Amino acid sequence: MDFDPIRTAARSALDPLSWDYYEGVADGRPESQTDHEAWQRIGIVPRVMQGLTEVDTTLTIAGATFSTPVLVAPTAAHGLAHPDGEVATLNGAAAAGALMIYSSSARVEVTEFGAAADGPWWAQVYLMRDRLVSDDYIARAVAAGARALVLTVDLSGGLAEAPFRQNTRVGLPALPGNFPGLTWAQMSAGIDANLRPDHVSGLIESTGLPVWVKGVLHPEDAVAAVEAGAAGVIVSNHGRRQVAGVVPTAEALGDVVDAVGGRVPVVVDGGIRSGVDLLRALALGASAVGVGRPVLWGLATTGTDGVRDVLAGLTVELRQAMAATGAGSLSAINRTMVRPATFLTR
Ligand SMILES: Cc1cc2nc3c(=O)[nH]c(=O)nc-3n(C[C@H](O)[C@H](O)[C@H](O)COP(=O)(O)O)c2cc1C
Repeated sequence: MDFDPIRTAARSALDPLSWDYYEGVADGRPESQTDHEAWQRIGIVPRVMQGLTEVDTTLTIAGATFSTPVLVAPTAAHGLAHPDGEVATLNGAAAAGALMIYSSSARVEVTEFGAAADGPWWAQVYLMRDRLVSDDYIARAVAAGARALVLTVDLSGGLAEAPFRQNTRVGLPALPGNFPGLTWAQMSAGIDANLRPDHVSGLIESTGLPVWVKGVLHPEDAVAAVEAGAAGVIVSNHGRRQVAGVVPTAEALGDVVDAVGGRVPVVVDGGIRSGVDLLRALALGASAVGVGRPVLWGLATTGTDGVRDVLAGLTVELRQAMAATGAGSLSAINRTMVRPATFLTR
């Protein structure tokens, strides 16, 4: 996959404010470039003489099966990129056999989204300071058929906001579909930034659904999430949008996987832009891997087909990488196949 032309085409297709919103990071570099470069510093040690006869990218996670370990990370406001918003993305993910995590800050309301889904999907959740607001959304997400909830815990809110968010709070044209009474600015400002592990256990108790905790970078936080009953942990720095200077997820993943110790699956996202990046993440112990902005670029350029092409293209590349490294299935990819290799450029 060469994402440069897709990203350039997306930039032309989007209005400047939407582009800035999608692209935005807390520190100066474009999108997830720092994270992407960190994946590239991991060298692959191929296995040979493996008698490989086929390569299978099938993922089984939380009792469901997908054609690929690539999943759609939850991203807000797909209505900025396509008139059908998240439903267009859902159809592209389904065409690629990939799991989609729906963002609570979606353009399409969750009941409508659930009605459009044929297969399993997960719903991302922000707890709002006004719990009546988030409880109402959560109840609709459960009723709409979400198989799991993904509680995002890394929105620290902060006193000093990234410039892109200050701009978009004022002018972003997409209205939040799940919170029609709120403006975009009110919705963002209403997110509770002071979560604790008991919020995880509370959400599990109140919904009966598996709850994944998204936005973990520190191994002790991963352990706290597991002890609170999380079904899984998502290692993420929110596409570098929250904390300037945050560690790339490639450098945080291994310690989290070790701390979790196989008790629950670990997913990672941030700067994944090739099948080899996917292989690196899986080798470090991720069970599945999320992509954020590339999906939005595909959506903005050619809609459902664009989303499918991004996810399917990454999967084809992963299959090639697996064939080249002697891994016939996802379970055959392991940490013995990677080393730090700071000299690599791809
Ligand atoms: C435009 C945009 C909106 C996002 N909105 C959300 C969101 O609503 N909830 C959430 O948990 N993460 C959100 N994220 C973070 C993504 O889930 C994911 O962590 C990140 O995009 C992965 O990095 P990548 O874009 O380099 O693939 C958003 C990211 C972007 C770029």
